[in-house]
Amino acid sequence: MARLSQEKIDEIRQSVDIVDVVGAYLPLEKKGRNYMAICPFHDDTRPSMSVSQDKQIFMCFVCHTGGNVFTFLQDYLRISYIEAVKKVAEIGHVDLSEFHLESQERKIDEKHLVLYNMHEEAQKLYSYYLNTKLGIDAKEYLIKRHFTEDIMKTFQIGYAPTDNVLTQAFEKKNYSKTDMVNSGLVIEGYQYFDRYKDRIIFPLHNQYGQVIGFSGRIYKSSQDESKYLNSPESEIFTKGKTLYNYHLCKEAVKEAGFVYVLEGFMDVIALHKAGIKNTVAIMGTALTSSHIAMLKRLSVNVTLCLDGDRAGQSAMRKITDELIKAGIKVKIVVLPFGKDPDEIYEEQGINGLNVVLSQQKSPLEFIMDYEYEKINGTNYDDRKKYLEIVCTHLEGIKDTVDRDHYITLLSQKSGFSYEVIKEKISGQNKVIQQVPLHQHVKKTSKMLNKYQKAERDLLFYMMKYRDVSKRYEAKVGFMYDDNYRVIASYIVDYYRNHQEFDIAAMVDCIQNGALLHTLLDIYNLPLPIPPQARAIDDYIKCISENAKELKKDQLLEQYNNLLDPVAKAEVLKQIVNLKNEKESL
Ligand code: UTP
Ligand code: MN
Repeated sequence: MARLSQEKIDEIRQSVDIVDVVGAYLPLEKKGRNYMAICPFHDDTRPSMSVSQDKQIFMCFVCHTGGNVFTFLQDYLRISYIEAVKKVAEIGHVDLSEFHLESQERKIDEKHLVLYNMHEEAQKLYSYYLNTKLGIDAKEYLIKRHFTEDIMKTFQIGYAPTDNVLTQAFEKKNYSKTDMVNSGLVIEGYQYFDRYKDRIIFPLHNQYGQVIGFSGRIYKSSQDESKYLNSPESEIFTKGKTLYNYHLCKEAVKEAGFVYVLEGFMDVIALHKAGIKNTVAIMGTALTSSHIAMLKRLSVNVTLCLDGDRAGQSAMRKITDELIKAGIKVKIVVLPFGKDPDEIYEEQGINGLNVVLSQQKSPLEFIMDYEYEKINGTNYDDRKKYLEIVCTHLEGIKDTVDRDHYITLLSQKSGFSYEVIKEKISGQNKVIQQVPLHQHVKKTSKMLNKYQKAERDLLFYMMKYRDVSKRYEAKVGFMYDDNYRVIASYIVDYYRNHQEFDIAAMVDCIQNGALLHTLLDIYNLPLPIPPQARAIDDYIKCISENAKELKKDQLLEQYNNLLDPVAKAEVLKQIVNLKNEKESL
């Protein structure tokens, strides 16, 4: 049966007017050329969401949620993209009976095929070595940590021996040296050698289950390097966009109705040993906006359970706020001091772990306890400061029963009376409402350096003029900022198939929430049309200069790391060439 083509999707999108669709869910008020609504995606008090009939997009100027008619239905009804397309087709009376829409097929990423293949081969090779003589000690270590054969298979665990087996295997398969180095699995120095040596290997996957990187653990007491060594970021691997176990968790998440967010992959595996599979791990980093978008796509609540050490608790404090801000419901598990889930499983078994995991706090209970730990409860100034901090979180509670519950709790903890707290919160409410809107917006817009500004403004004009996009493609083809670079490549791709830029159609190409925010923010920038004389030339020059600087830094680093004088001289030559090129620019 036929798949939905881009043309068909365009037809469906154009079969309705976004104003009618949004208007069916939210009261709209006409303001000039646009319509305004109270934004349903944040705690809005006055209309900040604008719906444009001309452009067929919506956008909130406070929380920056935006997109086309599909995005609106996805976000508002918490449904998948394909479900939103079906719904719009229904509203627009587009017949889809000849299409088979049960599952959304993944686009094949031809450009990176070779990198995916290399990772798949590396994973197989490492898994093979775990079951050879060379891997005996590594395997024994895993068995001691209660890894079964089944677990090793599920998580595709392997072992990287010492003697460059991977580089040799890649050479045999005739991979180019550039691809080998780009994969991050082979390091270029005096010779080419394997990144991973004598480590237990944990593959990292993307959402489709393709291997995109690895993390290697030491396993002998004689090894004094860092505990885990991770793949460097590559064209297919970005740590901030990867959640361990995301590709395996979906069914269990749906069944349980929530997902555990854990700190390390050993914790994911520990819960798996206890039969709990609705888990992901952030792998010891901060939670990024991409992670949040991934969690949102699961459309369930989150239970946060990071390590019970100071770092883990303080990360949970931050992440709790971020998840709430993103509209995700959160529960928190506080582990016994200094422990991680894996240690609890080892010490207390499945039952012990289940007991600990079942003691979940609401975000406010967690915040109250966490902030209380930081103060001296017998000191008046400390208690007052504590009261101030917690009160800022109480004013948002609309439900009167909840409000009463938390005020009572706070009163018990802080030692101040119920009445005082109640009065304090209503006072804060008034002040908050007087804060002018633009101030909120200002706080969230990040500071850009001159390169990022040039890139951002160039993106704006690329969306307005096909010809600017062509010049970018021909002359630069690179942006320093990760998000901007991806957006630029989408725009360039878009013009390959379309003459005119259509923002509502462009939105369809971008499935990543954070990226979409950025795209719409740039699209709505108040920049002059047409651009000022030489503006485009200046942006292009600025971006190219930056690219050269980065290349130079990279070469300098390479130069410093090399030992062989001949190789060093070669790199030096490249640095000098780069300098000359720059001066003649
Ligand atoms: P932890 O130090 O908590 O590791 O780091 P762990 O999960 O308890 O692992 P074991 O039990 O000691 O084997 C949590 C996460 O931080 C990242 C890893 O992704 C790890 O899963 N990390 C940690 C690194 O990337 N590098 C390191 O050197 C340490
Ligand atoms: Mn551990």
